[in-house]
Amino acid sequence: MSTTRVALRPAINDAIETLRTAGVHSPQADAEHLAAHVLGVERTRLALTPLVPPGKLAEYRELVDRRAQRIPLQHLTGTAVMGALDLAVGPGVFVPRPETELLYAWALAQLEALPHDHAPLVVDLCTGSGALALAVAHARPDADVHAIELDPAALAWARRNADDRIAAGDTPITLYADDATDPTLLTNLDGRVDVVVSNPPYIPEGARLDPEVAEHDPPIALFGGPDGLSVIRRMIPNITRLLRPGGGVAIEHDDTNGSALAALLAEHGEFTDIVEHPDLAGKPRFVAAIRT
Ligand SMILES: C[S@@+](CC[C@H](N)C(=O)[O-])C[C@H]1O[C@@H](n2cnc3c(N)ncnc32)[C@H](O)[C@@H]1O
Repeated sequence: MSTTRVALRPAINDAIETLRTAGVHSPQADAEHLAAHVLGVERTRLALTPLVPPGKLAEYRELVDRRAQRIPLQHLTGTAVMGALDLAVGPGVFVPRPETELLYAWALAQLEALPHDHAPLVVDLCTGSGALALAVAHARPDADVHAIELDPAALAWARRNADDRIAAGDTPITLYADDATDPTLLTNLDGRVDVVVSNPPYIPEGARLDPEVAEHDPPIALFGGPDGLSVIRRMIPNITRLLRPGGGVAIEHDDTNGSALAALLAEHGEFTDIVEHPDLAGKPRFVAAIRT
């Protein structure tokens, strides 16, 4: 086998062109993330590895070809980020998105403002890979975090991530195979929860989606009925029941539904301080409210 090393940058430039032609939205970032993944370095340190073994280049080109087939980047690298955590993801579970980071930051701020007289109680409805629940448990080891997931395939990823976090020294969370809309959900926590977070399925049926989403995120993770609010609408009575007075909720939603969700919470009559929040792209993305 040849030991001659070959230049990495031309291969990255070729990859950018391949991904751009395939319609990938961020061809340069993805080409560099995949190179960093293959070489086991940070993306910001790629310039320090100008020459690589030919075998690594072959591995890289194979991954780029798969990305050009619009397989999600995170399925190829095997991880997605939430807060300070890298979570394992792949077929069968929703890939956590950067826009949810703002909801996560809201939850941490909410927890920070609590009096320090009890362990904060947190519920994550529709946890998927466990992203929000595990990121909260990592940032707040004093919190008692409960997470609900209906889909067994997603729950298996959440369990795997939860086990990894226990091995890394985080406080364990409690995972439930359950329906976030079930009126009997977690009745033992009624009136005691400090913070409810939820990134539920919320895309209106019939919406046009990129292939990465349509072909790789599970449909149960995506669609929220004709208007995108059918799961959320049925979760609201549970959220109302679970929260203690003064407790807060943040729910992510489709960018068409900011005002509709705020109106739903207002109509319910048991929430105050109802605030619509935009995401990093400035689109309406989550609504937060406080239980009266
Ligand atoms: C958009 S994904 C979000 C996952 C995770 N919260 C995140 O931000 O990455 C929605 C998740 O809700 C789950 N789900 C859908 N309907 C549900 C229900 N009625 N009860 C509990 N989980 C549900 C899906 O299986 C999916 O994992």
